[in-house]
This record gives sequence, C-alpha cells and structure tokens, in this order.
Amino acid sequence: MANLISGLILTLSLLEVALSDDGLPIASHTMFPKGFMFGASTAAYQVEGGWNADGKGVSIWDDLLHKYPEYVVYNMNGDVSDDSYHFYKDDVRVLKEIGFQTYRFSIAWPRVLPDGTTSNINQAGIDYYMNLIDELIANGIEPVVALYHWDLPVTLQKFGGWLNPKVVDLFVDYADLMFKTYGDKVKWWITINEPESVAGGYGGGDAAPALNLFGTGDYLSGHNLLRAHGKTYRLYQKKYSHFGGKISMAFCGATCYPASDSPEDIAAVDRCFQFSFGWFAHPVIKGDYPPVMREYVDENSMAEGRDVSRLPYFTEEEIQEINGTVDWFGLNYYTSQMVKAGLTDMDPSLNRDSRIIKSFNSSWPTSGTNWLRVVPQGLRLIATKVKEAYGDIPIMVTENGYPDHGEHDDLRIGYFETHLAELRRAIYEDGCNIFGICIWSIIDNFEWRNGYTVKFGVVNVDFNSPNRTRTLKNSGYWFQHYIAMHKLVE
Ligand SMILES: *[C@@H]1O[C@H](CO)[C@@H](O)[C@H](O)[C@H]1NC(C)=O
Ligand SMILES: *[C@@H]1O[C@H](CO)[C@@H](O)[C@H](O)[C@H]1NC(C)=O
Ligand SMILES: *[C@@H]1O[C@H](CO)[C@@H](O)[C@H](O)[C@H]1NC(C)=O
Repeated sequence: MANLISGLILTLSLLEVALSDDGLPIASHTMFPKGFMFGASTAAYQVEGGWNADGKGVSIWDDLLHKYPEYVVYNMNGDVSDDSYHFYKDDVRVLKEIGFQTYRFSIAWPRVLPDGTTSNINQAGIDYYMNLIDELIANGIEPVVALYHWDLPVTLQKFGGWLNPKVVDLFVDYADLMFKTYGDKVKWWITINEPESVAGGYGGGDAAPALNLFGTGDYLSGHNLLRAHGKTYRLYQKKYSHFGGKISMAFCGATCYPASDSPEDIAAVDRCFQFSFGWFAHPVIKGDYPPVMREYVDENSMAEGRDVSRLPYFTEEEIQEINGTVDWFGLNYYTSQMVKAGLTDMDPSLNRDSRIIKSFNSSWPTSGTNWLRVVPQGLRLIATKVKEAYGDIPIMVTENGYPDHGEHDDLRIGYFETHLAELRRAIYEDGCNIFGICIWSIIDNFEWRNGYTVKFGVVNVDFNSPNRTRTLKNSGYWFQHYIAMHKLVE
C-alpha cells in the first residue's frame, strides 16, 4: 500500500503542470464532473442467501439449482451465498469504509411477493429492503434499485414466465408496490437488469430458466420485457412522479471492433450494436425494434416458411407506450469483441439472424472467465456509440469489473484504473454525459454457472465462516484512495 499511496500523493502534487504519456493533463486523469457518483453493485440472488427465509418464495434460480445442482460448478448455489439477508449491515459498512456514494442492489421479487402476485405480500421481505435502504441512507449512501435481476418467482415460470404476456401486468403490480413502499427514499430505479441476458435464459441455456428456445424464446420473452418496462415507466409517471425518481434499464450488449476494414465487417459493427444494445434500447428511446433486426429476422422467418416473424410485432399503441421510457441510460460494460460478417450458430438463432461472427483479439489480456478479455478502450467506444445512437442521454455505468480466482487483485486494480481513465476520456474528450459508475462488485459473490470460483469483489468474503466476514482487498483500499482523491480535486 505504501507505494500506492505515495504514488497518489505524487500525482496530486504534480496536478497543475504535469502531462501524462498520452498528452492529457494529469488533472483530467483525476477529476470527474461535479456530482459524479462512485458506487458498487450486487444482485439479490448473488449475495442474499436466505433463499427460503421468513416466507420468501422460490425463484427460478432456486428451482433450477435445486433440481439440477450440476448446472453450476461443484454443485454450488445461492442458498446462503454472502448471507446479505442477515449481514447487509456489513455490506453497508464496507461500502462506507471505501467511500462509495451509491449502492446498486436488486429486490428479489419472490422475497416480497412469494407467489409473484400482490395477493400475498411477505412483510418480512418488505422489511428487509426497507432496513437496507434505511441503513444506506443513514450512512450517506444513495440506493440505486433494480426490480429484476433474473430471479422470477417460479410460480410464474409454471405458466411460461416471460414468454407469457400475463407476466407483464404482474410485473407492473409488483413495481407499483415497490414504488409505493420505497419511492420516497429511492430516486434511482432500474426496471430490468440486462434484458438481453434475461431473454438469453429463454433463447439459450446459460441462465434460468434455461429453455434453449433459440431464435424464438429470446425474442418473445424480450418482447414481454419491453412491454413490462414501458408500462412500469408509464405507471411511475402517472402515480409517482411527485417522488422525482429516474428510471432506466441496465442495458448490456456487445462492444464491437471490425475484424478487417472491409465494408462488410464495418457494417457488421453497427449490426452487432443493434442486435444487442439496440434490441432493447431502440424501442425505449427511438421507438420499435431497430430496422435491421426487423428486416433480418422477418426475412429469415419467411425463408423458414413461417406465417409470422419470430420477432413479434408491437401494436402502434405499444410502440408509443414503450417509446421514451428511460430517463437515463444504464450501461453494463465488461469487455469487447471483434466482429466480421458471416453466418454462425444454429438455425434458427439470434446469432445466426444477426449474420455476425464474434471473436476476441488475441492481443487482449485474458481474465478469470472465458467471456471477459480486458479492453478498457471499449468502454469509451461504447459510451460514444450510445451518444451517437441515442443523443445526449445521461449515462450511468451500472456494471464494470474484473474476475479472478482470488489471485489477481493487482490486475483488478489495473482494470479499474484503465477503465476509469477511458471513462474520463469519454467525458472530457468526447462529451459523453456520464454521471456515475457502479462497479461490479462490492463483495465476492455467486457468479452464476461459475459459482464462487470466479470472484469480482473489491471486498473478500470468507465463505468458510458462518459470519461471512468481509475484508477489504487491496482493490478496495485502492478505491478508497481513488474516491478520496477525486473529492479532494473537486
Ligand atoms: C488486434 O488489436 C491490435 C491492437 O489494437 C490491432 O492492431 C489488430 O489489428 C487487432 N487484430 C485484428 C485481427 O484486427
Ligand atoms: C419515439 O419518440 C421520439 C422522441 O419523441 C420520436 O422522435 C420518434 O419519432 C418516436 N418513434 C416512433 C417510432 O414513433
Ligand atoms: C461471528 O460473529 C459473532 C458476533 O460478532 C462472534 O461472537 C463469533 O465469534 C463469530 N464467529 C466466527 C466463527 O467468526
């Protein structure tokens, strides 16, 4: 730590005059716009545990991993995890110790509504999130709350889950209760975290409910996610606008570089954006699906002899109801891809519809998961792409982080340092309106199919102790100084 701290002090003393390697004044490497928020993220299933505590209902992740334990390495699951259900005060303590100003967490729908409907409210679940929010506010930390981070009540999956349009109104009822209950305290809302990943659980096998309905289940569930989001936003406008909260989704997708300078590969870059980010962002910001998605999926559906497109159509009324329903843009960024034009994957599938082949550039450093290569410049690229596609919408980076197996915290520090540098370039050189970041994650947690073997936390959790003791890693201390320095400069 000593080297790190003296390095920071040196940087500060050179502030006025020095230029860095890339010619930018050092100040632009330390400053952030006034009011910029540093925060950290988690999601209910990944940290809470208490899977059946105090009347909580069963989620599709509980159900999947109880029925098919082998779905996750070493049969691990989220039954206990970090036990944030009991140790949430320890989460708030480390957030505060590091100096994070926001905490992004999700509410488990089945914890507050065990069967998914408002006819059965679990008061203990309501109290849990109220206590967490109160503890955050008492410690000067602003809550950023996601309503859906993948843990659908299993009762709703029994009639199709997101494939069934009935889920739309049930989600809106759930959101209504959450806004009513917490709306005076929570100003930042995310309806759906990574709608693309949620749909991927229907159109693929890597997330619950793991239905493998390639090229159909993904589009249909995505359609209902968009309807649910749109109606939820309108509900807030109508009933809760006096709270003054701001709503978004946490979008994800592929950040793409062309594999060659051929016109086909350069065109594949925009198509890659439209088939991932655009799938959900276009309907809520510009209205309806991206034209290229509509065209390609319709064309393939017709060639397959179908009467209707695999990508459903919105009514004109729905297009209008969904259009204009984000106040800010939640951007999850971890990595980038190289893309070229071409056909891949099974027929039909979303990947095949998109006519894009993705790969990694072998020069990009690897990490503790095979889906993440370290590409800091991609964060700047995607921020400018969002600005180009959707105008000057305020952006919060809602996830960004580095996975290891517990051995490379130094590389995690490097990851954050370089990504925050690229983020400042996006702000100061490209004029992107980025007002905050919530890193992934405050604590090591249940990383889906990788269980607890892949760690993203800036705080270690002792999974062998019933107390799940939280201890800052060097990356936690690094953030502590980074945030403090930022405040000093401001
Ligand atoms: C990989 O990245 C390097 C460095 O950015 C670049 O020079 C190279 O062209 C990329 N590789 C491919 C196949 O595009
Ligand atoms: C969506 O809303 C924007 C902004 O009001 C508008 O410019 C656009 O035409 C709308 N899209 C559709 C398809 O109606
Ligand atoms: C867990 O925490 C309790 C209360 O602080 C303490 O008494 C106990 O010794 C701890 N147990 C372990 C194994 O750390």
